[in-house]
Amino acid sequence: MLAPVMQHRALSILLPVFALPAFASDYKKDIQPIFKKHCYECHSEERNKRKAGLVFDDLHTLANDIGPNGQVVPGNLEDSHLYEVITNDTGAKNHMPPSSKAQLSNGDIKKVETWIKSGAFLVNPASAKVQGLGQPPRKWRNKENKEIEASFVKIDGDKVVFRMPGGALAPYPIANLTADSQIQVHKALLVAAGEKPMDTK
Ligand code: HEC
Repeated sequence: MLAPVMQHRALSILLPVFALPAFASDYKKDIQPIFKKHCYECHSEERNKRKAGLVFDDLHTLANDIGPNGQVVPGNLEDSHLYEVITNDTGAKNHMPPSSKAQLSNGDIKKVETWIKSGAFLVNPASAKVQGLGQPPRKWRNKENKEIEASFVKIDGDKVVFRMPGGALAPYPIANLTADSQIQVHKALLVAAGEKPMDTK
């Protein structure tokens, strides 16, 4: 059995390797530049183009489409309709971008795949600041329909870390939350990262 000091030292050697995996992917860094080029023309808050109700520039609006009922289902390519329409046959009616436009490269598609598989976060969870005790408490609901009131603190892997009313930190699997609460997790991450909603005219 390791002495506590030894354990601590062993951890500090391991953490830098695992806390910042080189394959981490987030929308803002890896996907937004691709979508700006290929999708904003028809899906942009700023350009007042909201085909199918989808925009890819305003992250707070895009968050509404991330989760089990959204266009992007984190960790699940098969259920992600957005992934389907960029990988289906160019001749398919709902193929994106439309066949008359420049198409995504295989590398672009691979990046979208990696992003969805790694949790479909809009910004890098590691870049978000933990604000004091966390954000103001709000209600969260899980798929068993249990409701808790807790503060969003941060994202840790595939879990959201809540602060409970008594002060304890409680990591909880994001996938076990309802669709609406999952959207709220993605929005809370944007707030923690200082991402403001775009001004809509
Ligand atoms: C030239 C305009 C245009 C461009 C560029 C474009 N889209 Fe679309 N998109 C549309 C239209 C129009 C619809 C609605 C299509 C429909 O309902 O049949 C749509 C619908 C969608 C849908 C919903 C599909 C469905 O079956 O309801 C998704 C997801 C989507 N687009 C993603 C993208 C992505 C990702 C890109 C860029 C890689 C993109 N679009 C580029 C015009 C465009």
